[in-house]
Amino acid sequence: MIFLLHTSPESVRHAASSLYHQNLYEKIGNLRYVWPELAIVGTYRKQKVILIVAYENQRDTDAIGVLVFYVNKAAAEFYVKPEHRRKGIATKMLRALRTAGGQGDRVITGEIGWEGSEQFFAKNFVYVPDTGFGPADMKAAAERMCVSYVEGDYTSVTFGRLFKDVRRYRKRQFLEAYRRAKREGKI
Ligand SMILES: CC(C)(COP(=O)(O)OP(=O)(O)OC[C@H]1O[C@@H](n2cnc3c(N)ncnc32)[C@H](O)[C@@H]1OP(=O)(O)O)[C@@H](O)C(=O)NCCC(=O)NCCS
Repeated sequence: MIFLLHTSPESVRHAASSLYHQNLYEKIGNLRYVWPELAIVGTYRKQKVILIVAYENQRDTDAIGVLVFYVNKAAAEFYVKPEHRRKGIATKMLRALRTAGGQGDRVITGEIGWEGSEQFFAKNFVYVPDTGFGPADMKAAAERMCVSYVEGDYTSVTFGRLFKDVRRYRKRQFLEAYRRAKREGKI
């Protein structure tokens, strides 16, 4: 297996025009909107993009997987052809982004996609912002902040502060696990 890294808009543009025609995206996924723009300008909504493209063999023209990385947001999207899944391809593309792509010091963010993506992100320490919350989250936040919270009160200033704390707390939890994994050489 080999991986090609495209970092300049010109190189991204060139690769994208070929990858788009190889249908390297989920039929109802976001990437189907991204490819046409990348194929024309090599950037997406004026953002710099890095592509990591996986091929089974050196001389292949058809790719088997791709990672699209939006540099400003440190956000990644993945697609691996169904017949090539669970062979570590997405994991290797991510590793290539962190090493050869020079993004190893950044927390990379992902958005849950199809079956297995949640487990994939968790295993590889890709951060998935979670904005859902329930009474238990709010109660725990109220305890952390030493304020009283009346369940179901969605209008108070306290509610807004607690909600922010829930998100901050999750991010802190993630960062602790991420740093530990880095120290242990898992990523
Ligand atoms: C998510 C996706 C990118 C994973 O690619 P992949 O090359 O198959 O992933 P890997 O082989 O590197 O998987 C690494 C680990 O992730 C987890 N994982 C991946 N797919 C999984 C699945 N379908 N079910 C459960 N766990 C899964 C496993 O822990 C796996 O390790 P294991 O095989 O040793 O158990 C691929 O399934 C895909 O392209 N899906 C459609 C598009 C999508 O959802 N993209 C993500 C959002 S942008």
